[in-house]
Amino acid sequence: MNKQIILLPGDGVGKEIMESAKHVLNTIASEFGHSFTFHQHAIGGEAIDNNGTPLPEDTINACRQADAILLGAVGGKKWDSLPGHMRPEKGLLGIRKMLGLFANLRPVKGFAPLLHASPLKEDVIKGSDILIIRELTGGLYFGQPSERRENGDAVVDTLSYHRSEMERIIDKAFQSARLRNNHLTSVDKANVLESSRMWREIVNEKSKDYPDVTVEHVLVDAAAMKLITQPNQFDVIVTENLFGDILSDEASVLTGSLGMLPSASIRSDGVGLYEPVHGSAPDIAGKGIANPMGMILSAAMMLKYSFGMEEEAAEIEEAVHDALEQGYHTPDLQIKGGKQVTTKEMTEIVVDNLTTKSVSNF
Ligand code: NAD
Ligand code: IPM
Ligand code: MN
Repeated sequence: MNKQIILLPGDGVGKEIMESAKHVLNTIASEFGHSFTFHQHAIGGEAIDNNGTPLPEDTINACRQADAILLGAVGGKKWDSLPGHMRPEKGLLGIRKMLGLFANLRPVKGFAPLLHASPLKEDVIKGSDILIIRELTGGLYFGQPSERRENGDAVVDTLSYHRSEMERIIDKAFQSARLRNNHLTSVDKANVLESSRMWREIVNEKSKDYPDVTVEHVLVDAAAMKLITQPNQFDVIVTENLFGDILSDEASVLTGSLGMLPSASIRSDGVGLYEPVHGSAPDIAGKGIANPMGMILSAAMMLKYSFGMEEEAAEIEEAVHDALEQGYHTPDLQIKGGKQVTTKEMTEIVVDNLTTKSVSNF
């Protein structure tokens, strides 16, 4: 199968971990007889420096024609004082919106060898397996107006959603719950926000179409607490854009490091952009020590969701698991013992596990 994949490495550690994803995908291609063609384009801070905009036209056009898109991360100190519409983050928000990637799937599943790497107690996180579904193209992130008033002394950010935007993500969440353990937690702030009250109404209406799925409503503040006190009570969580952003970084603590979490941003026809949940990690960028697992696992999600390559995706997940079980870890994982390795070394270990596995299959 020949697939055209757009690579948007972006800034900071984004560039370093994109090399890892490429290496792993090339290995999968040769092991399984696929052909992946990579086309690299600029986004974020690098694009601001070279093209004067965080989302150049040719990047947009390439993404529109791609079979799938892989993104590293955008942003960094260098661009932090630019006006909002010129920031690197605007490039990422722009491509999500332009491609209509409304459903952001963020699986949070601890790998067994990392159970003791979390600051949370092992018996609290044991058995946790959560899918956070975050609405990605609406809410406060895209509200109009968003502006300063009264000579800069007042400010407005608008939280706006249309019913149809809520319906499609809530439907996606019910469908996902059906494929898992039939439990859906809808997170909102219905005690304060009108948008959350409409969200809750829609969840209740939709639940009639999915009688086999148990629904629970939890306010976002309580959800933040329960995520780290009783994480194994959750199956699928669905929530609006900003709440989902915050809760997914919090949930990453269960896995031992933010660097472990992958994500898929998709729309109904399967087109998708795949990226780790973390950012450009300016504090460690350039040191060659970023954890590549979130990026590698995002590539696995791409194979599964955009290309239907379930077996290939499972092999990558297994190779990641095995690397961790062999005791290898990047410095962000607080592990006693084992062997601390660099981004490149970790990638080679995952690739070795992939090739060894296939050889032993014969
Ligand atoms: P961050 O996710 O970049 O980093 C938070 C912490 O986690 C840092 O200590 C960092 O070193 C660590 N970390 C993150 N990824 C890691 C990895 N792969 N391996 C090891 N450690 C890792 O968040 P931040 O520092 O708040 O933001 C930095 C920049 O990234 C900002 O400009 C922000 O806007 C941007 N950002 C981009 C994305 C994205 O592109 N999807 C996501 C979040 C933040
Ligand atoms: C994420 C990031 C982005 C977001 C930023 C960089 C715009 O934090 O992908 O989680 O808030 O969506
Ligand atoms: Mn985030």
